Amino acid sequence: MKNSINLFYDKKGKEPISMLTCYDYSTAKFLDESEVDAILVGDSLGMVFQGNNDTIPVTVDEMIYHTKAVRKGCPNKFLVIDMPFLSYHITKEDAIRNSGRVIKETGANAVKVEGGAEIIDKIRGLLDAKIPVLGHLGLTPQSVNVFGGFKIQGKSFENAKKIIEDALLLEKEGVFAIVLEGIPEKLAKFITEKLKIATIGIGAGRYTDGQILVINDIFGMYKDMMPKFVKKFGNVGEEMQRSIGGYVTEVKGKQFPEEKHTFAIEDDIIEKLKKEF
Ligand code: KIV
Repeated sequence: MKNSINLFYDKKGKEPISMLTCYDYSTAKFLDESEVDAILVGDSLGMVFQGNNDTIPVTVDEMIYHTKAVRKGCPNKFLVIDMPFLSYHITKEDAIRNSGRVIKETGANAVKVEGGAEIIDKIRGLLDAKIPVLGHLGLTPQSVNVFGGFKIQGKSFENAKKIIEDALLLEKEGVFAIVLEGIPEKLAKFITEKLKIATIGIGAGRYTDGQILVINDIFGMYKDMMPKFVKKFGNVGEEMQRSIGGYVTEVKGKQFPEEKHTFAIEDDIIEKLKKEF
């Protein structure tokens, strides 16, 4: 059964919503066979896939490339594509054109954009164009240069007030859910209780309606940064290292390939070839 946007409305306040990021076809197939509710092709791919220090360099074309691959692997999941830095900030028309393009070319169901009041005209434009929008407030990574690093947001009265006002504004405008990233647990709880739409937390504590994490982090595959809110659910990184080591050892020791990995040819053909060359 295909997941739809309705899961966010149906599960609010009833059942936790689980989301994960994904960037490639092979991983997407595992996710499609899982019970995960929805998938985000996050611009975090700029860090965990491309090796940048932040998400700023990611382009619309790169988001499309990865999302097409993910969509092929998970045809049954509700799929959200992140709009990268500067693809929805300049004008409303630009935001609609870029978001419309990514939806048309990838088969994603919705876009995610970072920000509140300062981009509300763009969000309105997207919703008018019938593009579902997932909001994103708090430690929005595309603002890393304004925050002076990946710093927890919403700790002061003024900053917390701004996040609450933005959340209420986004809900009023019609986004279907809001990602709350890197904010204190009590603030996330307060916002979650105030909103009729679902909140999806990452580093926002236990009381949001759902959770999202970067898939490379839960696999234990990304070693550059390990925020406090991340939990490793596996040691895929260690297993990869072990597999690479095993392969190299066997190649060097001539244990791989074995006969069962080879393809046969008739001996008389080889004899004929020997005569010819
Ligand atoms: O880019 C991303 O992966 C995200 C989520 C982790 C919320 O924005």
